[in-house]
Amino acid sequence: MDADIERVLLDRETIRRRVQEMGREIAQVYGNPGENRLDARAGVTLLPILSGSIIFLADLIRELPLMMKLAFVHISSYPGRSTQSQPHRTLLELTGDVAGRHVLIVDDILDSGRTLPIVQDAVQQRGPASLRTCVLLRKRGKAAAELKVDFVGFEIDDLFVVGYGLDFDDLYRNYPHIGVLRAELMS
Ligand code: IMP
Ligand code: MG
Repeated sequence: MDADIERVLLDRETIRRRVQEMGREIAQVYGNPGENRLDARAGVTLLPILSGSIIFLADLIRELPLMMKLAFVHISSYPGRSTQSQPHRTLLELTGDVAGRHVLIVDDILDSGRTLPIVQDAVQQRGPASLRTCVLLRKRGKAAAELKVDFVGFEIDDLFVVGYGLDFDDLYRNYPHIGVLRAELMS
């Protein structure tokens, strides 16, 4: 896999430290044990957008000292080998406990910003107690400024990246760093 990566943008340790910080930022908003700033009856549900966010999710939730549930939603906007956002294919049924709960959408990367509003609208229709969004990466200057994201791990340049859950043609998700794929492999 290493030979396919042109350069590492964010190494494993850098990601680990930032995810730890994000856990603290998020816990501050949702309340720490013994200091719950939200309605105690409405708990927190994390809603990862599958599949790219799974590794980020797995690391992030272990940095969150909160009572929480998981719900799931699957949406694909980069089918197969395409590296440009395509009109989304199918929004599979959103599964899990979302109504009346404090929902935090978790996504790997905010690129054109086409995917996120679809999920945000689907959650809003189910009447959450609150809705926030967290992304590990945001490509600088690409998504509309109005698109609301509450937590961002890293701002990156407009490059196609893989690793730490992010794929090209469903490959490279297990690459432990986040890197730029060699251009000739994407053509
Ligand atoms: P958007 O709808 O253009 O914001 O794209 C969001 C989705 O496309 C992300 O959740 C990723 O799954 C995928 N995506 C966007 N940029 C990249 C990238 O650089 N590498 C891998 N997947 C990406
Ligand atoms: Mg995705």
